[in-house]
Amino acid sequence: MERDVNESSRTFPIREAEFAADAYDVERIRADFPILSSQVHGHPLCYLDNAASAQKPRAVLDAVRDAYETTYANVHRGVHYLSERATTEYEAARTKTRRFINARHDSEIVFTRGATESINLVAASFGRAFLAPGDEIIISEVEHHSNIIPWQLLRDSHGVVLKVAPISDDGEIDFECFEKLFTQRTKLVAVSHMSNALGTIQPARRIVDAARAHGAWVLFDGCQAAIHLPVDVQELDCDFYAFSSHKIYGPSGIGVLYGKAEILDAMPPYQGGGEMIKTVTFEETTWADPPARFEAGTPSIVQAIGFGAALDYVTGIGKERIQRHESDVLGYATQRLAAIDGVRLFGTAPAKASVLSFNMDCAHPHDVATVLDRSGVAVRAGHHCAQPLMKRLGVTATVRASFAMYSTRAEADALAGALQSVKEIFA
Ligand code: ALA
Repeated sequence: MERDVNESSRTFPIREAEFAADAYDVERIRADFPILSSQVHGHPLCYLDNAASAQKPRAVLDAVRDAYETTYANVHRGVHYLSERATTEYEAARTKTRRFINARHDSEIVFTRGATESINLVAASFGRAFLAPGDEIIISEVEHHSNIIPWQLLRDSHGVVLKVAPISDDGEIDFECFEKLFTQRTKLVAVSHMSNALGTIQPARRIVDAARAHGAWVLFDGCQAAIHLPVDVQELDCDFYAFSSHKIYGPSGIGVLYGKAEILDAMPPYQGGGEMIKTVTFEETTWADPPARFEAGTPSIVQAIGFGAALDYVTGIGKERIQRHESDVLGYATQRLAAIDGVRLFGTAPAKASVLSFNMDCAHPHDVATVLDRSGVAVRAGHHCAQPLMKRLGVTATVRASFAMYSTRAEADALAGALQSVKEIFA
């Protein structure tokens, strides 16, 4: 079958076109996610591990399958039909990403393997080029390991100083202490926009203003915020924003680094290889402009196309409507769990989204998660890649239920019901 290349930057329509402006038909949405009709241990799947990775709608599955069946070839390398078609679709995904976070230019969107690689890229490239020994980076106690370790590696190789902003008991950055950490050597603030372990939303714009007042750059780990909050990088005025596709209903293996054009332009490459060069001789190599400079080697082609379909899907339903729905489910689940004797909730700041972390006084978090699993309820238990946060909270682990656009109050009821079983077993 032959198709015009120009047709290939299509969007992947979903049935949300049929949605009335204000209706949020969660059952309709659930029907778009084939895995949600599974049974686990004889129970309907109740998937509450969305902060770790979200499930995929049929629009994404179809886009991936369609890309392999009709469009697949390497990108940016061939003059043949399929290569041009694949390139157009890959670049269309970049444009969709740019629109999704309201970046100014497509060239400000670098595709990486995921948010982890995005932050490592900034540490390795920007960090080595722009930070000198003794320069200071501020992170916070609530960070995911992905936003701690790249900076520790830079500290160890390059002599930068890492400072840690404390958080309040409910998970917010203690702003007074945060502001006191700035000195003339502060060059970068790197913090999460929304905590993966607690759901706390940090005051992003205020953080940028504080950093700007001291002449520092700002990176946000937007892994959770990009899914649950409207993100406008121009309004935030941050320098870098990192997030992953797999948590936002797209394929794994692809993520995003947004960087302001003038900063990316000045940054050296992070990895060397094909397609990130202008010219190569044995004596000297010159670099391609961003984003190609940071996308050495064959990229995640089909994953990018699937990611684009996921962004279409989310945008089609409407992020604000999703946010309202998720907030309702989170509020309801919080009430249900708070009413259970022996449940302790973590991260109770008013500004939070879609994550409910808790422990039970009768059982270890891993035992709780195992019993929940036997009822079909999937949650994450452990340190959530945030060991320093666990230490701050005085625990080694928590149980984390995390919600998505397809979560329901009935699932919160299933979680609460399964916790009663935990009590019967362990109390
Ligand atoms: N960062 C992911 C989580 O919070 C894997 O579970």
